[in-house]
Amino acid sequence: MSATVIPPHYFQRPVVARVQDQLGGGTDNYAVDRAFARTLLAVAPWLPASVRINRGHWLRVLDYLTQGLGIDQVIDLGCGLPHDDHRRLPDSVRRIVYVDNDPVVEGHARMILAERVGTASLLVDLTDVPALLAAAPIQQLDHDRPIGVLLHDVVPWLDDATARTVLAALGAHLPAGSVLSLTHATGDFTPAGQVARLAALWQDAGIFFRPRTGTAIECLLAPWTLLGGCGLVTTATWHPPRAAFNQPLSQRAGLDHSHAYAALATTGDPTS
Ligand SMILES: C[S@@+](CC[C@H](N)C(=O)[O-])C[C@H]1O[C@@H](n2cnc3c(N)ncnc32)[C@H](O)[C@@H]1O
Repeated sequence: MSATVIPPHYFQRPVVARVQDQLGGGTDNYAVDRAFARTLLAVAPWLPASVRINRGHWLRVLDYLTQGLGIDQVIDLGCGLPHDDHRRLPDSVRRIVYVDNDPVVEGHARMILAERVGTASLLVDLTDVPALLAAAPIQQLDHDRPIGVLLHDVVPWLDDATARTVLAALGAHLPAGSVLSLTHATGDFTPAGQVARLAALWQDAGIFFRPRTGTAIECLLAPWTLLGGCGLVTTATWHPPRAAFNQPLSQRAGLDHSHAYAALATTGDPTS
């Protein structure tokens, strides 16, 4: 096994996963992340609520994938640092592969691995889709059955061309009937200029961050078929589609604290 290389600046600059951890009330972060989180909070005090909603969504989507759609093998792309909800992983998830390109995140994911049979972690840049799909933990999934793929709060950290390429490649190479769960930061429900200021702060820290409009997110999802019948909803208002749990799917929401869209999409025929 090759040694993990941590870049020299890793502990001196804010890092997405650690800032996220700090905003979510975690302790796996450094002074530089806490200072940066404070500058973000000065612009957007709703960020911790947004992180909490996104994490709760992780559990609800896993419940729906397994119990509603019978998909029990999952790839969590850009999984981030572990948090309490990770420990509530439903038993119905038979296999899960946690993927991140942050070596410290992957190290933490390996600790979750030790606790739960059927769990694997993978250090890979998800933008290299061929390398991702060729990796042993992904190959070991059953490719004759659909796979659930989570991209929760990851695509905003990719530029447009990369995001388009990744989403198209995943759609083309995953088994038919696979289901993608996406959450994506947006400024559609945010006071004017607020998310642009957040993006500028991240840029000053050397990190690309692009919240997108609902229309731009739907364009990125063009190679996929949206499930649910009424387009994107905010993460805070997402419910499993009606057929599975007999709950109404929320319409496009008004203001809430998720400041993110959620979508489920499939590679296969959603009516079959
Ligand atoms: C904002 S966090 C989201 C974490 C988690 N998915 C959640 O919803 O709470 C984004 C995560 O994506 C990871 N990430 C960003 N770009 C990536 C890439 N190109 N390949 C793999 N992971 C990536 C980061 O390291 C970070 O852990």
